[in-house]
Amino acid sequence: MRTPPENRLIVALDVDDADRAEALAEALSGAAGMVKVGLQLFVAAGPDAVRRVREHGAVFLDLKLHDIPTTVERAARAAGRLGVDLLTVHALGGPDMVAAAVRGGGEGAAEAGHPPPRVLGVTVLSSLGGESLASPASLAFEAVAAGASGAVVSGEDVGSVREAVGRDAVLVVPGIRPAGHEANDHVRVLTPREAVEAGADYLVVGRPVTAAPDPGAAARAVLAQLR
Ligand code: C5P
Repeated sequence: MRTPPENRLIVALDVDDADRAEALAEALSGAAGMVKVGLQLFVAAGPDAVRRVREHGAVFLDLKLHDIPTTVERAARAAGRLGVDLLTVHALGGPDMVAAAVRGGGEGAAEAGHPPPRVLGVTVLSSLGGESLASPASLAFEAVAAGASGAVVSGEDVGSVREAVGRDAVLVVPGIRPAGHEANDHVRVLTPREAVEAGADYLVVGRPVTAAPDPGAAARAVLAQLR
């Protein structure tokens, strides 16, 4: 069986500028397992922001790619060259698109001398209600069957998705709040311990860490709740 990650915490760097992102990444170095660069930072500050935060630790590039397979393959190749550890695509893009992302990511990483990124399928956005077309478990299963390493799933779905994809898939769960912390804009949150007990490998936490006066200490406090 795959061993759990040494450090399960991924901190979302949802900021607009590379200086702030790099300062946070530096403060979190050695405390968080990874930092997440999402659309906000990537659109504002581009690949340079990824290169800068990567100096301080592993990067989860959360771009939720969703396009024709050729376009996704080329974008994933560029992401692979940046040396990111995790990369997201929408599972709804279908198996050919997921496979293209895995291929492109691996090729880009090899060109630049990095290990291949682990591609994750985003299942269903939590902002959508019951109108989604497919279940998170079937989307994650299909993404993994197409070559993805795992999926991004909500705390509510992690149990059923874990059952569908088995132990070897990597499951990343956002919407995590340390026990006692306010939920911010989330409708439903899980504590770090609840998420891991339900089957999460990695936990994504943003504002409770990045808005704290000492982000490194806040990250360690999240992890302390898992012990
Ligand atoms: O600040 P907060 O902890 O709420 O940030 C969570 C991060 O996880 C954000 O980057 C957000 O885009 C992402 N997220 C997600 N899916 C959810 C909830 C949050 O990808 N269901």
